[in-house]
Amino acid sequence: MSSAPATYEDIVDGVVATLHQKGALATAAPAPWGAFLRMSNLVHEQFEIPSTTITPIMRRVLFGLGCAARAANVVGVGTFVGYALAWLVRDRDDPSSAPFAETAYAIEIDAEANRVARRNCALLNHGPRLSFADADGTVPASYPVWPIDLLYLDLDDAHERKAGYVHALEAAGDRLRSGALVLAHDPCVPQFAESFAAYHEYVRTSDRLCGPWILPVDECGLSVASAV
Ligand SMILES: C[S@@+](CC[C@H](N)C(=O)[O-])C[C@H]1O[C@@H](n2cnc3c(N)ncnc32)[C@H](O)[C@@H]1O
Repeated sequence: MSSAPATYEDIVDGVVATLHQKGALATAAPAPWGAFLRMSNLVHEQFEIPSTTITPIMRRVLFGLGCAARAANVVGVGTFVGYALAWLVRDRDDPSSAPFAETAYAIEIDAEANRVARRNCALLNHGPRLSFADADGTVPASYPVWPIDLLYLDLDDAHERKAGYVHALEAAGDRLRSGALVLAHDPCVPQFAESFAAYHEYVRTSDRLCGPWILPVDECGLSVASAV
């Protein structure tokens, strides 16, 4: 008897369940995939997206983790035009993907990218709860004072490329609340292998972090860690 192939949604629900077993997520509930489809239509019809490496499965992973994390406070670093961040914070007008963040904050060094991100993410109906800072995510002063429950790293510096992840994690360091989820995009990109070796070593040797768990769901992948 042949069984139906796993869908992207099945895979993401499995990832969430596994991360729950590892203690990185409080819930193992499957994501509300109807809400994902509605949001996908909104985003792909109305967002301005000059380029992205976020694939169909990765946007589902971000959506699924965003739902399961139940984060009160979300911070994204290197968020470009807000496309990846959008899946984490979701559409506040669709109650089936609640609970939503009390505050979400994007740190992006490129002011023009942030202008587009503000326009894009206004469609997600978070109002002033979601804000965008033109700032350097590798320095502590750029971070909000409140505790962080979900940190998303995607900064890509023209010279240092992904080497900034360690600096960003250090900069956010003492603001990560116990149980916080730390997501880092691109661990599977060969060009970034050296930066990720350093980042993963930092996570492994930190007495304040668990992980990393690396999700090779596409050519970029996602690295997951959690704060103890
Ligand atoms: C390649 S984009 C991420 C896009 C995302 N992976 C996608 O496919 O949608 C990386 C972003 O990091 C930003 N960046 C680079 N260095 C930064 C820093 N020190 N602090 C904050 N943002 C930074 C860049 O301006 C750029 O918008």
